[in-house]
Amino acid sequence: MNRRLDWISRAGGPLHGSVRVPGDKSISHRALMLAAIAEGRSHIRGFLEGEDTRATAAILAQLGVRIDTPSHGERIVHGVGLHGLRGSTRPLDCGNAGTGMRLLAGLLAGQAFGSELVGDPSLSRRPMRRVTDPLVQMGARIDTRDGMPPLRLHGGSALRGIRYELPVASAQVKSALLLAGLYARGTTEVVEPHPTRDYTERMLAAFGWPVVFEPGRARLDGGHAMRATDIEVPADFSSAAFFVVAASIVPGSQLLLPTIGLNPRRTGLLQALRLMGADIVVEHQREAGGEPVGNLLVRHAPLHGIELPVELVPDMIDELPVLFVAAAAAVGRTVVRGAEELRVKESDRIATMATGLRTLGVAIEETPDGAIIDGGRIGGGTVESLTDHRIAMSFAVAGLRADGPVRINDCRHVATSFPGFHDLANGCGFTLQNAD
Ligand code: S3P
Repeated sequence: MNRRLDWISRAGGPLHGSVRVPGDKSISHRALMLAAIAEGRSHIRGFLEGEDTRATAAILAQLGVRIDTPSHGERIVHGVGLHGLRGSTRPLDCGNAGTGMRLLAGLLAGQAFGSELVGDPSLSRRPMRRVTDPLVQMGARIDTRDGMPPLRLHGGSALRGIRYELPVASAQVKSALLLAGLYARGTTEVVEPHPTRDYTERMLAAFGWPVVFEPGRARLDGGHAMRATDIEVPADFSSAAFFVVAASIVPGSQLLLPTIGLNPRRTGLLQALRLMGADIVVEHQREAGGEPVGNLLVRHAPLHGIELPVELVPDMIDELPVLFVAAAAAVGRTVVRGAEELRVKESDRIATMATGLRTLGVAIEETPDGAIIDGGRIGGGTVESLTDHRIAMSFAVAGLRADGPVRINDCRHVATSFPGFHDLANGCGFTLQNAD
């Protein structure tokens, strides 16, 4: 992770063939954590071999959980039961993973032992009070560095269930509270201002823990047990998103993306792109491992700008950087509002995208909660990813439609969520090279 890696993306395509993107990051994190505290052996297939999810696996191993890797993308977790984790004297390193750190904070808040959660420089700048404040209300004792990592969880606190209304829609915070709620006396209830991804709720139910949930609300009682189960992780919609936009903006493209997770709390981008005129067909829709999945067939179509409906934003929060690229390639104006959460992701994604697109000659105005993008032409130039995986991949897509080469600095963090992106991209028609 220390060597710097820069990419050059050039005009390419048309994109063609079938692209198998790796497993879902959100589901892979949760599968490991729940399997770790279940009773018995859980088999996870389709596991994301990314740095973020591997960091979570390493932490659970540090806490005494045996995790076997029979093959790439497969894990067998030997669950230790709800109270079987053992404390570690060494810090638990979440790397770049906000999901890992926030969910583990919930899981570890009610343990008998203390823990210290640390992260890389990007994670160390991300806000943690959104999760530590409600955990403290539940009775946990947690120290932060001015609301940021490292998180020191004292352990040994008796947690009690609370009813918590989330100030910001966040699946990570909701999930952290539900995980802490497993260890709490009484009922833990989380109410959201807008429904977010419900993977933790669905998976708790699959592990046999009674949980009541509907869009925007989830409730459970502490003190039950979890039974091991097998988990099939679908391909990550957020990773597919780069190829969906790429095929939409490069003339002549036709791309198939098989077995993509299509949980409605993730697929706002499909609706947004269709409003822009995209040609995306969902084929063979079915259920796999309790999640809706389907094959996406994407053909090039001329895109036009839109006012992005604000209610779509939470359902495409990780896809907005690549939507900015679609907007830059589209004819006319796109307005994005209500997306201030982008400012506290792996980078300030509004500022990073606006600076980069402006460098490429795109007319983009940054607003506090979004951007106004006048699309049409993308030029060449050098942009910074600021070590943000989704920014790096978004600019790789932008390069496909650029008049000149797009150099993207510092792309090594792509491996946190999408190992193998470079080769998969080149295999279907990108022209992506490592810079010297
Ligand atoms: C995630 C929730 C989202 C998302 C992140 C993964 C999850 O974060 O951006 O990539 O797995 O719960 P927030 O909860 O901060 O919105």
